[in-house]
Amino acid sequence: MRVLGIETSCDETAVAVVEDGRRILSNVVATQADIHADFGGIVPEAASRQHLLTIVPVVRKALEGAGVELSNLDGVAVTNGPGLAGSLLIGVNAAKGLALSSGLPIIGVNHLEGHIYAAWLEETDPEVSPGFPLVCLIASGGHTDLVLMEGHGRYSLLGRTRDDAAGEAFDKGARILGLGFPGGPEIQRVSAMGRGGETRFPRPRVKESLDFSFSGLKTALLRRAEGRGWYPPDRGVTPDPMEIGRVAAAYQEAIVDSMVRRTLEAAETHRVRGVLLGGGVAANSLLREELADRSPVPLIVPRPALCTDNGAMIGAAAWFHLRVGLRHEWDMDAVPNLRLC
Ligand code: KG4
Ligand code: ZN
Repeated sequence: MRVLGIETSCDETAVAVVEDGRRILSNVVATQADIHADFGGIVPEAASRQHLLTIVPVVRKALEGAGVELSNLDGVAVTNGPGLAGSLLIGVNAAKGLALSSGLPIIGVNHLEGHIYAAWLEETDPEVSPGFPLVCLIASGGHTDLVLMEGHGRYSLLGRTRDDAAGEAFDKGARILGLGFPGGPEIQRVSAMGRGGETRFPRPRVKESLDFSFSGLKTALLRRAEGRGWYPPDRGVTPDPMEIGRVAAAYQEAIVDSMVRRTLEAAETHRVRGVLLGGGVAANSLLREELADRSPVPLIVPRPALCTDNGAMIGAAAWFHLRVGLRHEWDMDAVPNLRLC
């Protein structure tokens, strides 16, 4: 069964063709990072206009790349939330047009569920692997959720961020340190120069809960950058790149350690068979290493390019819906605050 997966919830116009929920026949991602870089964050209206310009060429490229036509497909899947309203609408409308004109079913996929099913992509046997129950840490630019997954489509929320998402903490931190956008890869890059320094940030912790909190950490970074004259950037101080690297490394360590601790606590409490990591922040090498080293159960994490937003994960998740007969009607809406559980 082949599904077209469309993802436009944020700042990537992404379309893929996926076979049987795991084999990627094509996977095209048109990023808008350059457009938003000047603003240090995503500008919603610019994002939706850019999706409108690129969606048709990206769909074409994905079909051509897979060597298929719409008539060879079994469904059209699209992220219908959560995300930016204007961005979601472009994907949902494009998907409706494609499905209607080709007589295919339409399947709306929750973006976070897409991040979870990225772990099934490229797996040889999606029935056996990974095995339930799993604790899933989904960390992206908009979410940091700990989810217990007891079977396909069976989720319960164990913890979530009370303020900023982990990706947001990376993005805002990079902005404070005068680094580029998106911030996660930038902080990871400069941290490589600064690991092992004695700078340390406190580990944020919400008492007696598996919730996260990152805004205090961001404020601590801001105070440190102000104290050294790095922020605001027009104070005439040229920061030493080694110093920036050391502070960035300590900041990254604090974010990662806070996520790893909570995830392992959840894994132990719920006696899970594996830990699944997903979302853009799951591309972070320190997070991957730390979880792999410290987890007593296997870590399941897609390769970095499948952690950040893509259409393949939407096509994968949709297969698990389609095979049990789930599909949407034509009144499917874009839901910016759609919940997974
Ligand atoms: O899932 P995603 O691609 O889009 C959303 O759904 O938000 O996640 C984007 C987030 C951004 O905040 C970005 O800075 C972060 O993922 N990110 C990373 C890394 N690569 C992307 N954070 C830390 N380390 C990385 N290597
Ligand atoms: Zn995402």
